[in-house]
Amino acid sequence: MNADHTTAGKAPDATIVQATETHVRERLSGDSTGHDWFHTYRVRRLALRIAADEAETGATLDRRVVELAALLHDIDDWKFAGGDETAAPRAAAAWLAAQGAGPDTVSDVAEIVATLSFKGAGVPTPMRTAEGAIVQDADRLDALGAIGIARTFAYGGYKGSTLHDPGVPPTSHDSFAAYKASSGTSINHFAEKLLLLRDRMNTASGRHLAAERHRVMEAFLARFLAEWDGQA
Ligand code: ADP
Ligand code: NI
Repeated sequence: MNADHTTAGKAPDATIVQATETHVRERLSGDSTGHDWFHTYRVRRLALRIAADEAETGATLDRRVVELAALLHDIDDWKFAGGDETAAPRAAAAWLAAQGAGPDTVSDVAEIVATLSFKGAGVPTPMRTAEGAIVQDADRLDALGAIGIARTFAYGGYKGSTLHDPGVPPTSHDSFAAYKASSGTSINHFAEKLLLLRDRMNTASGRHLAAERHRVMEAFLARFLAEWDGQA
């Protein structure tokens, strides 16, 4: 990482982080799709926790880039920007530049926002930087476990998906276009995405947290299907 993350900017880091938090909180509060401010709040906390674990193992990383990317990652996400996947990185870059962030910070954060998202079971989404790997793990962890289950049905309701249909099998999407266009059931979202994430985590602490959250989802699905069949 280049050292100019703050020095080229007009405002010091802490001021930019605070202004960014206020901006994101305003933009996302009231969302009912599972992409509300508190999703971002949790992703930031997880990301900073994973960053601390990674730093302990000797990784060099810029904590401010982690924090800013976590804060900005869902502003103008493609799902809410007419399918345009360039909107979120553009919004992040424009915001940070307007705050006086240095050019390296702007481009590092925008790159993370551009490359973070899951794009279908068959589509690799590698992160180029250590900071990106951490924020991607944090965002994915918030898609898992008890919170992941809650968010899935919140988003399914927003999208108009049915809860479950035993006649509709899950689909393995081989392109982002196919993933974007899909209209599956909420239960199928587990097989199509959520149960795949445990084995795609980037960091050791991400893997550790994902394993427990994965078990919570498996237990939920087993119980859901048992109740569906009148077995429980
Ligand atoms: P990413 O964080 O990889 O960009 P998304 O923002 O698309 O992922 O998804 C975040 C969460 O929103 C998912 O983990 C899930 O809870 C919910 N979600 C997204 N797409 C769907 C879907 N098609 N059906 C149900 N829930 C979904
Ligand atoms: Ni997110």
